Amino acid sequence: MNFNIAGKQALVCGASRGLGFACAEALAGEGVSLTLVARSGAALDIAAKHIAETTGHAPKTVEADLSTEKGRQRVLSGCPTPDILVTNAGGPSSGDFRKLTHTQWLTALETNFLAAEELIKAAVDHMINKSFGRIVNITSMTVRTPIQGLDLSNATRLALTGYVAGVARQIAKHNVTINNLLPGPIATERLLELGQTAEQLIARVPAGRAGHPRELGAACAFLCSEQAGFITGQNLLVDGGLCSFTV
Ligand SMILES: NC(=O)c1ccc[n+]([C@@H]2O[C@H](COP(=O)([O-])OP(=O)(O)OC[C@H]3O[C@@H](n4cnc5c(N)ncnc54)[C@H](OP(=O)(O)O)[C@@H]3O)[C@@H](O)[C@H]2O)c1
Repeated sequence: MNFNIAGKQALVCGASRGLGFACAEALAGEGVSLTLVARSGAALDIAAKHIAETTGHAPKTVEADLSTEKGRQRVLSGCPTPDILVTNAGGPSSGDFRKLTHTQWLTALETNFLAAEELIKAAVDHMINKSFGRIVNITSMTVRTPIQGLDLSNATRLALTGYVAGVARQIAKHNVTINNLLPGPIATERLLELGQTAEQLIARVPAGRAGHPRELGAACAFLCSEQAGFITGQNLLVDGGLCSFTV
């Protein structure tokens, strides 16, 4: 299927590796021009080189920390008017909820909620003016079911989910959509960091394995396609059936 997004500009956050990189690669495969964001410039260079070699489209890169106001400004200066926005960053730390500090809560809110909220706010008016916009937020299966010990994720992802539910409906008539992708265990560095928690999750996946980042990247590219214009405000699990619900 031709997704009809060749030549569009995409800003992809947390894109030097893992799920963000997979989304970037899938979009580049559709002929989209990319701006990749991460904190490590060296990792970004490697990611950009790989995408340029495999797809023939060389991405721009912006080295910035999305958990800070300054970092987000730098991102918006590097790509002020994206047609496609993929928000994503590292997941919050795990641990006993009694020991979580105020600083950890603020960092999680900045990284996993406010960064997306600010980028969405900055991007939508240009999208509305062009009568085309696609926003995809990478959140987590913790939106549908909590994971013990990941209380920062369980809580902050819900803030973004609630925000998107309201905003998506306010801009839908302009052919600007916002959807969330909810990964279950997908084989990335983040998953390895979770150690035993990850192993226990993978053991319960009905598909019998962890996901491949490319499987989430493909879902992202579809949600960014012209054809997905009637899908908005949705939360799509990419979890091999792990979250067991009827609807
Ligand atoms: N993989 C899974 O199984 C899974 C499951 C559920 C939810 N998730 C969530 O999905 C998101 C992506 O996961 P992943 O597995 O791809 O993680 P990952 O392998 O750790 O990759 C995270 C990416 O985000 C960048 N990043 C991290 N913090 C950043 C910041 N403050 N500012 C800018 N860039 C930042 C990283 O580069 P730098 O470190 O250089 O900045 C890297 O490119 C995370 O929020 C994770 O919690 C993942």
